[in-house]
Amino acid sequence: MTQSMPPAAKVPAYFDYLVETFHQGTAGRFVHLGYWDKPQERAGAEPFEAAQARLDARLMEMADVRSGQAILDVGCGFGGTLAGLNARMKESWLAGVNVDPRQLAICRTIAPANLNKLEWQEADACKLPFQSASFDRVLCIEAMFHFSSRRAFFKEAARVLKPGGVLVGSDITLLESTRRVAVPGFCIEAPLQDGYGPWPDFWCDDADHAELAKAAGLREGIISDVTSNTTPSHLFTAPEDANDAHDTGNTALRAALMLRWLHLAGHLRYSLFRFQKP
Ligand SMILES: C[S@@+](CC[C@H](N)C(=O)[O-])C[C@H]1O[C@@H](n2cnc3c(N)ncnc32)[C@H](O)[C@@H]1O
Repeated sequence: MTQSMPPAAKVPAYFDYLVETFHQGTAGRFVHLGYWDKPQERAGAEPFEAAQARLDARLMEMADVRSGQAILDVGCGFGGTLAGLNARMKESWLAGVNVDPRQLAICRTIAPANLNKLEWQEADACKLPFQSASFDRVLCIEAMFHFSSRRAFFKEAARVLKPGGVLVGSDITLLESTRRVAVPGFCIEAPLQDGYGPWPDFWCDDADHAELAKAAGLREGIISDVTSNTTPSHLFTAPEDANDAHDTGNTALRAALMLRWLHLAGHLRYSLFRFQKP
């Protein structure tokens, strides 16, 4: 009998564009959606970066991060989250993992401060290069939908956490309703895979965070639906005046338009979560 191997991790396509914008100075270190306290009032006056920083702050509050801890950020992007912790914590071990050496090169421009130790590793989230029980906190912000298996990642996160350690993060999941408005594999999935892929478990066949945490031996904690608080983000990632640009061959923009439509039409969920290792 042949055993199927998980697909090798690939760098998400949209980072070809994002790495360039970072070097041009038109993008910051956060690569996630923003959080609005009053999304109905929408934040015309507020820059996207402020809302992105608020999402990060909410997650760090949920994680209860403190000086002296060992903290791992999986899918660390350009290092925005760990840069913030480096600036305000001391004597901590701050480690970031990513599959993309270009992003890790950007992370390495962060100078260690306050006697913190910074470490950046090129590795797959489903095969973390750390010994068991190494970390007080594992963070995973808006990255998990790229991983070959959410289940494998949860097991790895649980393995590298110390007893009493905490996993905190955010995730985007498609709701069951999406299946009714889609031709699977085509009109919804294709543009998102082209622009934001890899997105292996696109239809969320194995994406119940509470169940994944329980199976990994983590205690059920908090799962918070912040879909409406994150919706205004699309005014920045796919602005109204981009509507007629969907067939220009710009795959990143096409993906952003599709994600915006799914978000506004109520077909996806943006969740924050926190689980603890007993
Ligand atoms: C939307 S970005 C989020 C980045 C960062 N967490 C933030 O909030 O700014 C997703 C990140 O996950 C990384 N990633 C994708 N697949 C990965 C994998 N299999 N293992 C580790 N990181 C991965 C991407 O390269 C990217 O940095």
